Amino acid sequence: MQKIVFNAHYLMYFDTAVAGYWRALALPYEESMHALGGDLYVRKATLEYEGSARYDDQLHVGMRCERVGSTSLLLRCAAFRGRQRLVAGELVYVFADPATQRPRPVPAALRDLLVGFEQGEPVLDLHVGDWATLGPRASPIRQAVFVQEQQVPAALEADDADAGATHALAVNRLGAAVGTGRLVATAPGVCKLGRMAVLSTVRGAGVGSALLRALSAAARAQGAHTLMLHAQDTAVDFYRRLDFVPQGEVFQEAGIAHQVMSIAL
Ligand SMILES: CC(C)(COP(=O)(O)OP(=O)(O)OC[C@H]1O[C@@H](n2cnc3c(N)ncnc32)[C@H](O)[C@@H]1OP(=O)(O)O)[C@@H](O)C(=O)NCCC(=O)NCCS
Repeated sequence: MQKIVFNAHYLMYFDTAVAGYWRALALPYEESMHALGGDLYVRKATLEYEGSARYDDQLHVGMRCERVGSTSLLLRCAAFRGRQRLVAGELVYVFADPATQRPRPVPAALRDLLVGFEQGEPVLDLHVGDWATLGPRASPIRQAVFVQEQQVPAALEADDADAGATHALAVNRLGAAVGTGRLVATAPGVCKLGRMAVLSTVRGAGVGSALLRALSAAARAQGAHTLMLHAQDTAVDFYRRLDFVPQGEVFQEAGIAHQVMSIAL
């Protein structure tokens, strides 16, 4: 009746932004909490309503970790319409044993990650190397993305090119591998980028771009002047944003529409 957003909805907006916060940390939430031996429970949520959002408004939600206590985290959040702050909030999460919900000390690895991220430190380590070194950690990501998610037959996913390729692996601050890709020399001066895969839980947080930058640098170091790839139709815009140019017609590969794209190094 008031034609403004119902007050309780902002908690859902902030909760959605918290999911984006973990993504920006390159942390797959569920696996990371298992690895840390706990989970995060909201202990207190306070909101201050300074203005009202209306139908068709576009809102931006800001989120930062302001304090890491002994067992708790304070996330400060706010919803903005343009420059105007409409609702500001504080969320206190407690790190606790999921079985008993008893508080536990925030693990040092999580504390360091949060403090470092808020100070602008990178959340990924990029490793570039051969299949013997990186394959055991890259392979499960490719299985999860290509075979399980995209239903590419396992026999097509694995090929002989891995042994001679240069591979990249993105590893988050908890030591978990979250993305991979490879580079194959196909002709003098030409390298082909392929098997780019980022775990669905951390997509859109810059992991794919970081892998691509690492592999482009590796191609340049190998003396390549051109980097090409077969982009899945759904990934064409990802590569276009990184200045790859489409070439020729769309074709089918492993039952998926693909487009040749390339970039001069
Ligand atoms: C394609 C893929 C590797 C991209 O990795 P990612 O970590 O999500 O990419 P990034 O976060 O670095 O994205 C960089 C930018 O491209 C955008 N983007 C990412 N994927 C996109 C897509 N499929 N279409 C359009 N834009 C995309 C991001 O939003 C981001 O934009 P911004 O800079 O404005 O924020 C990943 O989505 C993936 O593994 N997909 C499934 C497998 C696949 O398609 N592999 C490619 C085979 S050719």
